[in-house]
Amino acid sequence: MAKTLIITTTSRQEKYIDLIPQLQSLLENETDLIANLANTAAALRQTFGFFWVGFYLVKDNQLVLAPFQGDIACTRIPFHKGVCGACYTQEKTLIVPDVEKFEGHIACSSLSKSEIVIPIIQNNKVVAVLDVDSDELDDFSEIDKKYLEEIGVILASILHF
Ligand code: SME
Repeated sequence: MAKTLIITTTSRQEKYIDLIPQLQSLLENETDLIANLANTAAALRQTFGFFWVGFYLVKDNQLVLAPFQGDIACTRIPFHKGVCGACYTQEKTLIVPDVEKFEGHIACSSLSKSEIVIPIIQNNKVVAVLDVDSDELDDFSEIDKKYLEEIGVILASILHF
């Protein structure tokens, strides 16, 4: 049975605080990995209107496109390429205020201007990354880092990657 997200707040921080418990209960009622990643991407897009939001899974010794919301995107990213690859190898969240200034950035869309990528860590290994792109410069802050990392921890605790 589909649920409706109820987000009544306006600031980005308040929206995360509204969203996270609703997302958690949505995920806890389903065990399928792809279904849950798909709803997480949709919930983030629906709540914040992000330009692109989605997952890359660690598979075949590279990052492979998984559920997302937005325009079509690069399907496979080597571990040493792009912001996603850097997030994977450094095992930490990367905030890129201006993608043109990030050496090696992979432009899936020329409209993407800033980006945040969060590693999802399960059993001490990065199993996926959550990538969010904006069509505005400098759109991500420590607030996004804090709550998107919280979402990453919830995903790692509930799902079997
Ligand atoms: N920009 C990313 C590639 C993925 S797309 O933005 C969806 C990167 O540099 O890794």
